[in-house]
Order: sequence, then C-alpha cells, then structure tokens
Amino acid sequence: MTQGIGYAHGKIILMGEHAVVYGEPAVAIPFPAVKIKATVEKNQGKTSIDCLFYKGLVDEMPELLESLHKAIDISLQKIKKNDWLTIKIESTIPAERGMGSSAAVAVAVTRAIFDYYDCSLTDEQLLEIVNEAEKIAHGNPSGLDALMTSSHVPYYYIKNQELSPFDLNLHGVLVVGDTGITGKTKEAVQDVADKVKHSPETYGADIRALGQLARESLYFLENDLPEELGKHMSAVHKLLRDLGVSSKELEQLITAALSAGALGAKLTGGGRGGCMIALGKDKKHGIDIAQSLANAGAAETWIFEMNGGSIID
Ligand code: MEV
Repeated sequence: MTQGIGYAHGKIILMGEHAVVYGEPAVAIPFPAVKIKATVEKNQGKTSIDCLFYKGLVDEMPELLESLHKAIDISLQKIKKNDWLTIKIESTIPAERGMGSSAAVAVAVTRAIFDYYDCSLTDEQLLEIVNEAEKIAHGNPSGLDALMTSSHVPYYYIKNQELSPFDLNLHGVLVVGDTGITGKTKEAVQDVADKVKHSPETYGADIRALGQLARESLYFLENDLPEELGKHMSAVHKLLRDLGVSSKELEQLITAALSAGALGAKLTGGGRGGCMIALGKDKKHGIDIAQSLANAGAAETWIFEMNGGSIID
C-alpha cells in the first residue's frame, strides 16, 4: 500500500467530566461535526509529522506532539516495523477545547498506520494505544476521550468497567460554543486532583454529586426529557465552577445561552477555556442560542440536532 488513511471525530461530554477520572459515570456523544484525517506514507529520512492542526500550540504544549509520537511508536512496535513515516494530519477539531482533539489525532494516526501496513486493529488495541499517548497529553486520562473520538454511538461510561452504549432518545438541539481559548486539560485535571486530595469533604462531595447527576441524566436522555436534562446540565456546571474549572469566557457564553432561553448550559470537557454546550428545544431555538453566543464573543458555534435517536449535524 502506498498510503494509509485513518479518521476520527470530536466528542462532547454531556455529563461527568472530571468526575469520570474518579470512577464516577460520564455521558458522552460522538461529535462528527468536527473531524480529523491522517495519512501515512513511507519516508526515507526521519519520521515527520505535518500537523497544521498543532501549529503554534506545540511551543506552548510540546506534550501534544510527544503524545502523538508515543502513539506512532507503540503502533510500529505492535506491527513489528521500524520504518520512518511521513504523517499528514488535516483537522477541523479545534485543539485543546474540550472536544477530544488530542485523543482524536492519536486515533486517526493509529488507524492510518495500521491501514498502511494492512494490519487489523481491534477496538481494544486502539484504545490501549491512544490511552498510553493520552497519559502524556492529559496526565491521568479516564479513557473517555479515546473511546468517544473513535466510536459512533453515545456511551454511558465508567472507567475500567464494561462499555455501555445507550439509546439517545431526546428531541432537542445541542448548541456548542467555543470560547476560542485553549483549555489545558492536563493542568485542570491536576488542579482538581489537588483540591480533592486536600479537601475531600468538600470537593470529594462535588465529584460524587457530579456522578449522581450523570446517572440521573441517562434516564432523561433515553426517555426524551429535555427540560429535566437542561436543569441537570446547569447543576453540573455549578459544581464544575466550584471545582475551579470554569473561566470568565465560559461564564459569559453560559449566561448568554441561558438568557436566550436555553434549557440548561454547562462547560464541556476539561474547562478553563474550551467549549460550552447549551440545550435548545428545536432548530430555530438553537439558531437563536447560537446567535446569542456569537454576540457574547464565541469564536465558533455548532448546532447539533439530536433528533430522537439519530444525531444530525
Ligand atoms: C477531558 O475531555 C475530560 C476529563 O474528564 C478528563 C478525562 O476524562 O480524562 C476532564
């Protein structure tokens, strides 16, 4: 084969970010509105990564590139090859914004390498490789990002437990707003860990409350209860704010979404920048919320119809 190709997409955490690192459940959906494509070819010299995606970011966060090299090295070890490769990455996933960009790039590159060598890659192998890479990018990954950027179905996810996909049966639209600011998930995860360690009675209770909200939300998602889900989203955001992972820009976008009548709104992913999500009743409501987010300074918005079972972007 002259070229290997691999794909991945973004993800949205509806409930349970940060708490999922501590064994609490999270609820997440694939977000194919943003995607990544990796191509792999043999190279005569050193392995090179042409990664427009991370330009400008790698100076600030060299571990992003390091984690990608890890995924490449493990993939080659598993395939028992020692070649130099040229890897090209094209992505529409904004990096470090809570949409799973670092996991997605590792998923796409791993798939492209296995495709190049015409080797089969099981889901378990893929998750193992990507989670190893994510340890560099994210420090202590729960495994949720690797799963969601490689899967096409929503999951109710608990770390180290059997995977459980669920039926999304909600009529409503999800509006995603990007603050345009990089989130630095690794630092946010570490700061939450410090808080939980030093004040377990306060922050440990927040983590458990986030888990409970995720558990209850699964029922709302499966049984088309958008109003209830919206209230839980806002309750989750309050807890995440207490944990110190919101930001001024996220608060501005969340306030704007709620003033446009969103049923609920929260940050999504690691926080400290990155993206927020709001729940709207229908497409028209979603457009109004997106307009309100743009007026409040969102760098980009996406409207995602969850049409009672199918996810339409
Ligand atoms: C990052 O997208 C989600 C976090 O919960 C970290 C993790 O699950 O590894 C903050």
